[in-house]
Amino acid sequence: MKILIVYFSRTGMTKKVAEELKNKLGADIEEITDPTDRRGVLGYFKCGKEAMQKISAPINPIKSDFNVYDLVIVGTPVWGWNICSPIRGLMVKYGQVMKKIAVFCTQGGSGAEIAVKTIEELSGKKTIASVAINNKEMQSAGFDKILNDFVEKVTMK
Ligand SMILES: Cc1cc2nc3c(=O)[nH]c(=O)nc-3n(C[C@H](O)[C@H](O)[C@H](O)COP(=O)(O)O)c2cc1C
Repeated sequence: MKILIVYFSRTGMTKKVAEELKNKLGADIEEITDPTDRRGVLGYFKCGKEAMQKISAPINPIKSDFNVYDLVIVGTPVWGWNICSPIRGLMVKYGQVMKKIAVFCTQGGSGAEIAVKTIEELSGKKTIASVAINNKEMQSAGFDKILNDFVEKVTMK
């Protein structure tokens, strides 16, 4: 099974999960970037506003061809109890061409359920597996097991 991991990360949490998953799955990986300045306090509020208003942020050109992948694993930080605006931009543009999807979310504490539902709606398909990882869990001894459980679900389907 050919797997691509695509993710957006403002402060590195989602990137860390994406890279761990890449190593465990031997998957291809592409970081989604966008032209918007999201740094600092002003950037934080811009992100929150876009997420709450369900804005599809414009993203920089993608290198990967989604058509060649059996499965696309989408990684997003939770913003305003939903997906981040660049991942909304990605899913609006490419969600329908992804054959199968799985989702991982990183979050401070809550909102991942709605984020997963939004990705399902925008892609028009159910996820084969999803996982929400809290920031605190990423420092815990259980982090590796959370990832292994997700990998098992993804590779069993
Ligand atoms: C604008 C903004 C809104 C956020 N909203 C939520 C939220 O609704 N629920 C939550 O649990 N965490 C929320 N967070 C925290 C992030 O989801 C969390 O820190 C995430 O792991 C950051 O990922 P990153 O380092 O890949 O950018 C928010 C962060 C930002 C920047």
